[in-house]
Amino acid sequence: MAQLEAEDITQAVLDRMTDCQDARFKQVMTALVKHAHAFIREVEISEEEWINAIMFLTATGKMCDDKRQEFILLSDTLGISMLVVALNQIKAAKAFASSGGGAQTPTEATVQGPFYWEGSPELPLGADIGTDMPGEPAYYHGRVTDTEGQPIANCCLDVWSGDGEGVYDMQMGDDAGMRLRARFHTDAQGNYRFWSIKPTYYPVPDDGPVGQMLRRMGRHPNRPGHIHMKVYAPGHQSVTTHLFVADSPFLDSDAVFGVRNSLIVPFTQHAPGKAPDGRVMDAPYHSATYDFRLVPAA
Ligand code: BEZ
Ligand code: FE
Repeated sequence: MAQLEAEDITQAVLDRMTDCQDARFKQVMTALVKHAHAFIREVEISEEEWINAIMFLTATGKMCDDKRQEFILLSDTLGISMLVVALNQIKAAKAFASSGGGAQTPTEATVQGPFYWEGSPELPLGADIGTDMPGEPAYYHGRVTDTEGQPIANCCLDVWSGDGEGVYDMQMGDDAGMRLRARFHTDAQGNYRFWSIKPTYYPVPDDGPVGQMLRRMGRHPNRPGHIHMKVYAPGHQSVTTHLFVADSPFLDSDAVFGVRNSLIVPFTQHAPGKAPDGRVMDAPYHSATYDFRLVPAA
């Protein structure tokens, strides 16, 4: 029979996959087709609306280049990136618990976002990645341990943030190069320390299709102040996470749904003078301390 009625189309698409050899791909595509068709039926989408949706996705793709990833932004602002992160961390936590678990809970993960740039400079502990950038100086320090509290030496902290006005190097123009990002390695006791700026809240890039979508949804584009890090060491599961500034606006309405209570850190303000690492500051500065805990590799 050549003709398919509307109520038969979903099953017909699924039936075409009988020769699919990849079981996982088949499972994913089956669910995708079922949910996409159910969505079309539920909202009774018009042909004009569907073309508009395709034009929106086309514009989203056209906005992408090596410095701008509008599709990640779409995934982030629809809560999909954080859902993927959270579900995978729950799954990993269950697997860890069923293998005996650890005495302490591991550091929670959150979204990576579109501003990670691989290959940032490797700098010695204590270096300042915020010099000559807008923003108030901040001293970051703490320890990396495993979930039994054992220090992890030579653990890499790959950190990046926007400047004190919420602008990332990737948004600063072609000549800016890498700013406010570096890789640090913990010492033999698992300690890390470095200087940067106290991050401020900022809007996710909203001059493209995703920004238009947010405005039409009646949403603001802002993220609370945060610094990003990937923390990784041989023999341990890496974590991609942030530290959020405790007194920042928008902690309750992060545009990408990434806030975890365990990652909110007070930034203590200090008068000019000698900082904990001996550096003499001639201007007020902040300090933030946080201990990271990594799960042993499976
Ligand atoms: C960020 O925190 O860098 C970010 C995350 C998601 C979307 C846009 C920016
Ligand atoms: Fe960010």
